[in-house]
Amino acid sequence: MRELELIYEGKSKQIFKTDSSDRVVIRFKDDTSAFYNIKRATIANKGRLTCDISSMVLEYLNCHNINTHFIERVGDDGQLCRVVEHVPVEVIVRNVVAGSMAKRLGMDEGIVPKNTIFDLVLRRSDLGDPLINDHHAVAMGLLSYDELAKMYEMSAAINKHLVELFDKAGITVVDFKIEFGRAADGTLVLADELSPDTCRLWDKATGERMDKDRFRRDLGRVRETYEEVAERLHNALK
Ligand code: TMP
Repeated sequence: MRELELIYEGKSKQIFKTDSSDRVVIRFKDDTSAFYNIKRATIANKGRLTCDISSMVLEYLNCHNINTHFIERVGDDGQLCRVVEHVPVEVIVRNVVAGSMAKRLGMDEGIVPKNTIFDLVLRRSDLGDPLINDHHAVAMGLLSYDELAKMYEMSAAINKHLVELFDKAGITVVDFKIEFGRAADGTLVLADELSPDTCRLWDKATGERMDKDRFRRDLGRVRETYEEVAERLHNALK
């Protein structure tokens, strides 16, 4: 596989063509942003760390029969991935009340509900990425009801595996965001990173935040905390 020209650059990633039309290389940048790009920073080594963590997690999911776009790590900050047709929605899975759910519903962060919560978000930053429901998604022609059922089934399975893996690292998976794509044969594929940039991770012993909330809320030690997540995951997977 030969890495060719840059075909997309976002806030935290670059995507490169390869000499194989069904493969791309995704490179993770040190740049980070929040609140629709209002808050921005460059954190040395963040690209390598999020790539490392996401590669470990996606490989773990692949080994547990979850269909993901991840093929293999490429260098320090890259992943060779399958090309998929992105579905323009995000699924947010919540095990503990936090973030926008706490704010929107006037609930305290840290409440552990009996059920798992699945939010569906339309990826339209010009509309403020609104929460939608299944009926909206079908009406907009984004997914069929059958695909939605499959997407929630995969999201629940991903959650189960993540909770088990991070538990071994002494970390609670509070919530996370994932996106899906369709492979050439139409099957749904997890096509996203899973790292402290896209998950809320709380230390089981101290409750300390080990994710991007350290950046969003100016809690400091962002890089050091990501390093600790990576090290704990490496040890959990030994
Ligand atoms: P929220 O509580 O702000 O809705 O975030 C829920 C989870 O989704 C949290 O783990 C952070 C993640 N997330 C992203 O990865 N990207 C985003 O743009 C947003 C808003 C949330």
